[in-house]
Amino acid sequence: MPKSPDFVCSACGARHTKWSGRCDACGAWNTIVEEAPLTTGPGARALGAARGRGMALSDLSRAEAPPPRTRSGLEELDRVLGGGLVPGSAVLVGGDPGIGKSTLLLQAAASFAQAGLGCIYVSGEEASAQVRMRAARLGLGAAPLRLAAETNLRDILTTLEAEKPALAIIDSIQTMWSDSVDSAPGSVAQVRAAAHELVTFAKRHGIAVVLVGHVTKEGQIAGPRVVEHMVDTVLYFEGERGHQFRILRAVKNRFGPADEIGVFEMTGAGLAEVANPSALFLGERENPAPGSVVFAGIEGSRPVLCEIQALVAPTPHAQPRRQSVGWDGGRLAMILAVLEARCAIPFAGLDVYLNVAGGLRVREPAADLAVALALLSAREDTALPAETVVFGEISLSGALRPASQAENRLKEAAKLGFSAAIAPAQAKPLATEGMGLRQYPDLAGLVGDLFGA
Ligand code: TYD
Ligand code: MG
Repeated sequence: MPKSPDFVCSACGARHTKWSGRCDACGAWNTIVEEAPLTTGPGARALGAARGRGMALSDLSRAEAPPPRTRSGLEELDRVLGGGLVPGSAVLVGGDPGIGKSTLLLQAAASFAQAGLGCIYVSGEEASAQVRMRAARLGLGAAPLRLAAETNLRDILTTLEAEKPALAIIDSIQTMWSDSVDSAPGSVAQVRAAAHELVTFAKRHGIAVVLVGHVTKEGQIAGPRVVEHMVDTVLYFEGERGHQFRILRAVKNRFGPADEIGVFEMTGAGLAEVANPSALFLGERENPAPGSVVFAGIEGSRPVLCEIQALVAPTPHAQPRRQSVGWDGGRLAMILAVLEARCAIPFAGLDVYLNVAGGLRVREPAADLAVALALLSAREDTALPAETVVFGEISLSGALRPASQAENRLKEAAKLGFSAAIAPAQAKPLATEGMGLRQYPDLAGLVGDLFGA
């Protein structure tokens, strides 16, 4: 009996028995592609001393205590990894094409090599000469780093077996192809097979691997989504192409906290670390302008201040526009609804644009209040009091909910020269760092007080 073909969604990795226009699992359109069945060779099986045998947890922790981490010396990268690279772990670095993944990883590879880690950089996209030229341009020409330009998985595994590096960087997983799979490089089947073989090989030999993956908004090429489940750590490299800021964000980490960020700046000589992101994100801020609010946020373990900008204008269209950059569009709609329902401030007939300055993507609900005040300030054409930061979550009832780490937020704001803060009321009194702190239990009271509505 012929084997039935396999179909897989390139957005979420769900498997289907037949093709359809829309994936039932994630709802994406036009993402289901046919995939040749995976032929599993002996190399694709996870081997190990303890294969198929149970162990007492106490034995395990004694025998296999976590090995020390290796720090690259790039502070921003080490923090996102959870304090350094864990030997034998698998890391996926995803991001849009051209955002700077190869640059980051070449710099990281050179730093790890200088820190004493045997390191090989395998490029499937550029010739060795090109990589060498880039390294020279980054001032890393003398780093004790090995290069290979290779796309055949079998050859790469042979190279790794011969060279026994401590760290292998594969740039990118989409260019790798395995001859055991009968489809084109970049297809979901190839990406999955290549990632699986590399990760199992690396685990077996105690090699740390970093896989680079391109993501496209349309999900046309096989995204690295299917690979996310196979690795220990998933980092996303994000930023706006027109901005020089780049943010490396941990979205999954088996060896450290998720949601940690590292901030970099793309310069003519590669990526430079940004030790104080708040100063950077607020750098280009003009003095109190209507629609601009400074949000005191927390990203991972650090407080980060950023500017939230809103523009509200009468719409020429039948359907007013709601556009949001750096902040979830659904959450924007929710805040507009709360302002309408709980504070009687209508936005009907008005276009609303929201932007987080500097290319940062804010995900914290504690930014709700800053977003609401930016919208109001833009709508009323009235600037907020000068040198004021804002934070707090808004519930659907219009009540304000205290945010976590309030004191850390205030401390960072005070450090950057802010003298006042607007925040939710909370039971525990806060150390205000000498700032004028105004606290409110609900949005309606706050709006009445600030805008006299
Ligand atoms: P790259 O690392 O090739 O991106 P990716 O691997 O994610 O596709 O970086 C591409 C961009 O970075 C390119 O547009 C040029 C810019 N760049 C600099 O601005 N400075 C530099 O020193 C380097 C190496 C690149
Ligand atoms: Mg690249």
